[in-house]
Amino acid sequence: MIRPILRYGAEVLHQPASEVAAVTPDVQTLIDDMVQTMYAAPGIGLAATQVGVPLRVFVVDLSVGRQATDLLVFVNPEFVLTEGRQFEDEGCLSVPGFNATVARPARAVVRGLDRDGNPHTVEGTGLLARAFQHEMDHLDGAVFVDRLRGLQKQLITRRIRRLARTGKW
Ligand code: NI
Repeated sequence: MIRPILRYGAEVLHQPASEVAAVTPDVQTLIDDMVQTMYAAPGIGLAATQVGVPLRVFVVDLSVGRQATDLLVFVNPEFVLTEGRQFEDEGCLSVPGFNATVARPARAVVRGLDRDGNPHTVEGTGLLARAFQHEMDHLDGAVFVDRLRGLQKQLITRRIRRLARTGKW
């Protein structure tokens, strides 16, 4: 089932998510819905907080469904390692219409449980490392806009507030 994606400003997007106690059928349904929602958007990553569920779950697929082996599911993810630095343009399904350059690690290794509750560890570089950090931020209650500073941040938040005021957000 495709779930609605919350936008910047929705409370659950700005609060840290809770650990998943066990990968139950309900959690698997959430994962399946998140994958479907990510593909429909379309996007390369989605965190549970973006569909209003405050649990530590995210999905990433750089191929957006074209390559089955590219789908990565993480329950209770944690970084084993992050290193290096990259600066690229970034967006978010919860902040449609806005992009900005965000500093991210060049390499990131994430450990967590997969859809079956089995532990797995995945190393990402480049875009995958960026996606890991972006989704992990969501689980900590941070959206990419929160990583910006100064004028760049003001510009985006001001425009979002204006859209919200006129009911277009
Ligand atoms: Ni996002």
